Amino acid sequence: MTPIIARTREELTAARASQGTLALVPTMGALHEGHRSLLRRARELADTVAVSIFVNPLQFGPNEDLDRYPRTLPDDIEICAAEGVDLVFAPTVDVMYPPTALGARVTVDSGQMGTIVEGACRPGHFDGVLTVVLKLFNLVRPDVAVFGEKDAQQLAMIRRMVADLNVPVRVVGSPTVREADGLALSSRNRYLSPAERLTAVSLSMALRAGAEAAGDGPAKVVRAARTVLDGAIAADPPLELDYLVLVDPETFQEVDDAHTGPAVLAVAGRVGTTHLIDNVPLAFG
Ligand code: PAJ
Repeated sequence: MTPIIARTREELTAARASQGTLALVPTMGALHEGHRSLLRRARELADTVAVSIFVNPLQFGPNEDLDRYPRTLPDDIEICAAEGVDLVFAPTVDVMYPPTALGARVTVDSGQMGTIVEGACRPGHFDGVLTVVLKLFNLVRPDVAVFGEKDAQQLAMIRRMVADLNVPVRVVGSPTVREADGLALSSRNRYLSPAERLTAVSLSMALRAGAEAAGDGPAKVVRAARTVLDGAIAADPPLELDYLVLVDPETFQEVDDAHTGPAVLAVAGRVGTTHLIDNVPLAFG
């Protein structure tokens, strides 16, 4: 069954008059198996499944890939239909950010947590993410929203916003979907040449090496992962490493060698012009 397509707030309100509970999966489109896994999780959680497809200009920096970000709406709608999605909200930029008097606009401030790790590489990124996610929550008014663990800091920040601003929605995380060789699925993978893709696999290889060292404590985890990354940094084409950190899953503060309990080993880097991130959840002690 083809889902209802809403492009404006009015169309969304009309389509939303459904019965039962509603799950929302926010996306920027170019849907792949990772997104599909979120759609299936959403299906388990609620009677009605809504997907938003919106490439959010607010979360892209001036030198980032907003213009070349893949836009594949007809294919995305087919995937949504195949997954039994009930409602696709695909607004234009004007619907989400209508011009305002003197350009005045109120946005969400992601705070200190938005300035560390991925936020340090992409200033303003998490302010843009949280602003659009809060708008989507207010427009769609879901009971539950599903996000991927692939973007672990994004998930942690959305949980923080929902708690700190008392947003009436349940946030559910869903595990990272990978290619057979370990590369985490991403809409940006399509930018990679075959040679770049070979280098890109080193991110997930490094995480796996780190996870295998988890029994030896936090410092050994980082060292084992770093050894794999050093190979990729020296490769052709090279990995330009942005960070490799072992952090608390809730705060994204780095943990020390005495840490016990859950942690996230997170990595990011560029291969060619493509920014890639990945992470693996771990437990110590
Ligand atoms: P996008 O990159 O399209 O991702 C949409 C959702 O899919 C996110 O929750 C993301 O974590 C999840 N996802 C992406 N790749 C995945 C994978 N390999 N396995 C599991 N889940 C995966 O993230 C965004 O869009 C935007 O920042 C958004 C939240 C929509 C706000 O604009």
